[in-house]
Amino acid sequence: MSEALLEIEDYRGGFRTETGDFVPVLHGVSYRLKVGVMTAVVGESGSGKSLVALSVLGIQPPAFERTGGRILFRGTDLLGLDEKGLRAIRGAEISMVFQDARAALNPVFTVGRQLADVWQLHHGGGRKAAMGQAIEALRRVSIPEPERRARQYPHEFSGGMAQRAMIAMASLICQPALLILDEPTTGLDVTIQSDIMELIVELSRTRGLTTCLITHDLGVVAETCQEVVVMNAGRVVETGSAEAIFTTPRDLYTQRLLSASQLVEAA
Ligand SMILES: Nc1ncnc2c1ncn2[C@@H]1O[C@H](COP(=O)(O)OP(=O)(O)OP(=O)(O)O)[C@@H](O)[C@H]1O
Ligand SMILES: [Mg+2]
Repeated sequence: MSEALLEIEDYRGGFRTETGDFVPVLHGVSYRLKVGVMTAVVGESGSGKSLVALSVLGIQPPAFERTGGRILFRGTDLLGLDEKGLRAIRGAEISMVFQDARAALNPVFTVGRQLADVWQLHHGGGRKAAMGQAIEALRRVSIPEPERRARQYPHEFSGGMAQRAMIAMASLICQPALLILDEPTTGLDVTIQSDIMELIVELSRTRGLTTCLITHDLGVVAETCQEVVVMNAGRVVETGSAEAIFTTPRDLYTQRLLSASQLVEAA
């Protein structure tokens, strides 16, 4: 068994309502991400997939109250880190592509400038070289005319292009050990979707990148992920190899999830 880069242990918490009632939403979530492996986190809307991922980076909604658990990264509990400690890890060690990628881009700087700035922050070097890296990163996520696109502002990008720019930022520019992708290819054309997934697969092969892919697309999971975590209503209901989950799902909810997708015919 390969070593775990991230271990989420019995993570629980919820939200306080305006009337002061506490509503638990995570009921003890545990899963691990193994080094160099692509793990999918699947489960229906509202099951807590994003909330757990945001917690890894310490950016869960302010109203969220944790009631227990640990999130260990290389053995250190991220939940015990202060803002300074978290900042040292974000981007450099763990980066994330959010469900709403465009919101993560700064509207007042060109896309190329933003990528170049982050490149310089993490890897140093001159401005010109950094812009070269930015353009190259845009090219690798299949953005046509990357030199011209690099000079544009986020509002000049389509939603899918902004998504790809953020994927370039999180993977190629930051070069983290752990990449968390929250619905990264939703809304992208099928061919671009597969280009992006190919890039991620290549990075895990060549750089040992560990990836957590949150998705509703079980087809993408079957094609790219080795491990699968199935969540339902704030709990992990099943974990295992993608092969085992797709061929012999043990949990009733997993079985339903699979039969709701077209994959059941293929399985
Ligand atoms: N800011 C918030 N205030 C109150 N409840 C919230 C807040 N953010 C999330 N929740 C609740 O927490 C639960 C988990 O939400 P989360 O966004 O993690 O789901 P998800 O599995 O990512 O769903 P989706 O597939 O739709 O993205 C949901 O019940 C949601 O309503
Ligand atoms: Mg989500």
